[in-house]
Amino acid sequence: MKSDYKNILVTGGRGQLASELERIVKSQGLYAQSSGICGEKGLRESDFIFAGKSDLDICDAKAVGTCIEKNDIGLIINCAAYTAVDKAEEEPEAARRINATGPGVLARQTARYGIPLIHISTDYVFDGKNCRPYTEEDPAHPVSVYGKTKLAGEKAVIRSGCKGVIIRTAWLYSLHGKNFMNTITRIAKEKKTLGVVADQTGTPTNAADLAKAILKITEAGVSGYAGEIFHYSGEGICSWYDFARKIIRLQNLPCEPYPIRTGEYPAAAPRPFYSVLDKDKIKKAFSLEIPHWEDSLENLLKENK
Ligand SMILES: NC(=O)c1ccc[n+]([C@@H]2O[C@H](COP(=O)([O-])OP(=O)(O)OC[C@H]3O[C@@H](n4cnc5c(N)ncnc54)[C@H](OP(=O)(O)O)[C@@H]3O)[C@@H](O)[C@H]2O)c1
Repeated sequence: MKSDYKNILVTGGRGQLASELERIVKSQGLYAQSSGICGEKGLRESDFIFAGKSDLDICDAKAVGTCIEKNDIGLIINCAAYTAVDKAEEEPEAARRINATGPGVLARQTARYGIPLIHISTDYVFDGKNCRPYTEEDPAHPVSVYGKTKLAGEKAVIRSGCKGVIIRTAWLYSLHGKNFMNTITRIAKEKKTLGVVADQTGTPTNAADLAKAILKITEAGVSGYAGEIFHYSGEGICSWYDFARKIIRLQNLPCEPYPIRTGEYPAAAPRPFYSVLDKDKIKKAFSLEIPHWEDSLENLLKENK
C-alpha cells in the first residue's frame, strides 16, 4: 500500500476490525508490530502499529502523546470501542469512557500533533424510525447507552477540530471475535431450531471489506477533511433472521431458524428497527465498490471450508 503517512497507529488493535486490518496489512508485506509500541525504533515508512488495550489506553492522553512522538505516528485509525451493546446499559460509565472520552483524547492529541484521525462509529446512533437509508445528514437520535456514547464520541472528534474522517458502520462480522455470525454458527450446531429477530432491518458488514475500504481511504488521504462523517456497510438490506438463515444454509448446519419479533427476544438495550446506511457519499468520495452482504458472506464462508 502506498500512502503519504509516516507510521500508522491502529488502536483497539486486538479487536475484530483491527485484526482484519492487521491480517490484510501483513498479507501486503507491511510490517505490523503488535506489542511494545512506545519507544520502538526502526519502523519503515507507512508501517502499521497495532496497539491493543494493554499497549495503549486511548483514554490516557499522556500515553497517546508519547506514542505519537516516539513512533513518529502520521495517522491514527481508532478501532478501540466498548461494543457490548446490552452490557453498556448496566455500565454506562465504562461505555462513556471508551466510546466518548477516549475518542476525544485521541482527537485532541491528533489535532495537537497536526496528524489526521480515522474514527469508527455506528449505525446505532440512529433511532430507526426512517423508512429509507440514513444519510450522513440525517439527525442522530440514539436509543441505547451504546449509541449515545458513540454519538458523544463523534461529537468529541468533531469538536477537537482534528483532521480526518468518521466512518459509521453496521452489523460487523468476521471469523474471529464475538459477533452475530459466530454466535449463530455456534448455536446452530447445538440446536435443531432457532428463533431470530425478523423485525430489525439493517445490513451486515464483513469486517475485511471495511478494512480494505479503510486502507483505500488511507491511501487516498484524509487530511483534507475535518471530522467529516461517512457511512459504510455491505450493500443490500436484510433482517437478523435473513442473515441467520444465510449463515446456517451456507454451512449446511442442521438447524431450522424461524422469525420472531423483537419483543420475543428480551434484550437490555433497545435497538433501532431500521438502520440501513446510505453509502453514496463514501463511494463517490473514495471511488469505492462495496460488495453485497450476501456475496461477501458467501465468499468468507467458502474460504473457511
Ligand atoms: N461489532 C459491530 O457489530 C459494530 C457495528 C457497528 C459499529 N461498530 C464499531 O466498529 C468499531 C470496531 O468494532 P469491533 O467489532 O472491531 O470491536 P471489538 O472487537 O469489540 O474491538 C474493540 C477493541 O477495543 C479495545 N478497547 C477497549 N477499551 C479500550 C481502551 N480504553 N483503549 C484501547 N483499546 C480498548 C477492546 O479490548 P477489550 O476487548 O480487551 O476490552 C477491543 O479489543 C467500533 O468503533 C465499533 O463501535 C461495530
